[in-house]
Amino acid sequence: MTAAEAEAPGGDSQPAGERTYFIDAEEAAELARLMQQDRLVTEAMGGLLPELEALPSAAQVLDLACGPGGWALEMAFRYPKAEVIGVDLSPSIVDYANAQARSRGLSNVQFAAMNITQPLAFADASFDLINARFLAGFMRPQDWPRLLTECRRLLKPGGVIRLTESEWGLTTSPATQRYYALCSEALKRAGQSFSPDGHHLGITPMLAPLLRQAGFEDVRLRGGALEWSSGTPQHYSTFKNIFVMFDLLKPFLVRTGVASAEEVEPLYQQAVAEMQAPDFFAVWFWLTAWGRQP
Ligand SMILES: C[S@@+](CC[C@H](N)C(=O)[O-])C[C@H]1O[C@@H](n2cnc3c(N)ncnc32)[C@H](O)[C@@H]1O
Repeated sequence: MTAAEAEAPGGDSQPAGERTYFIDAEEAAELARLMQQDRLVTEAMGGLLPELEALPSAAQVLDLACGPGGWALEMAFRYPKAEVIGVDLSPSIVDYANAQARSRGLSNVQFAAMNITQPLAFADASFDLINARFLAGFMRPQDWPRLLTECRRLLKPGGVIRLTESEWGLTTSPATQRYYALCSEALKRAGQSFSPDGHHLGITPMLAPLLRQAGFEDVRLRGGALEWSSGTPQHYSTFKNIFVMFDLLKPFLVRTGVASAEEVEPLYQQAVAEMQAPDFFAVWFWLTAWGRQP
């Protein structure tokens, strides 16, 4: 398939122009953050596909909301006979990912702009593997069943869908915990959370049920964790990821009314200070759920 064939066709789930991602994806700082986060998380997850034994040698692979393309680019490099396509709503992120593919000389990967809350412009049974990581920042609960129904249509018999989502994690910093709590509450107010009370991100308990409800078989789970306490090898890179994310989330917190700009700024500064303290302890969790197309 070509990038031209992968243009968004429109649909009735979310208006095509609506952007629900809680960060402005066009910000250069978000692009840099996502690239760094991809390396951090893929390594902590144990690689590109730690749960799956093997892929068909000429596998067709789709990565949904791929960001700058780190996972898809690495898949194309590791599986030279595979054909990989990544789709993302942000045209500038897609342009960046395509430039990365060209500069690395990878001809088996391409990226296209597409809204994954709309019908996806690929033929039935096109893919052996569909991967999606960290969609909770823009998906509304009602978007998930539609997307997974589309994935059922797009997967070949026996094909695999693989979803990875996280919760915020736990730390010993009161300001960081308060910031996480505001983010959860903001997502709840924005109608983008499965959490009953807005106290957590809410997506992880839903991954396996959503896959089963969509008709996937042999649904399995694997948890992952990254320790980023002060003094650990992952502290600085995770701290950088979180403080940039917190900064980029300020407009979302103010827009949803969970805090004023005057309240958010000192809380942010306090969190940044506490995350650098020598007695800061932190762990971040995620869950991968995967299932098979009958
Ligand atoms: C947290 S990033 C995840 C990036 C990548 N999956 C990863 O794990 O490194 C979320 C991505 O979703 C994209 N996005 C937001 N809304 C979208 C939509 N409706 N359809 C497709 N992509 C979307 C954003 O542009 C952003 O790149």
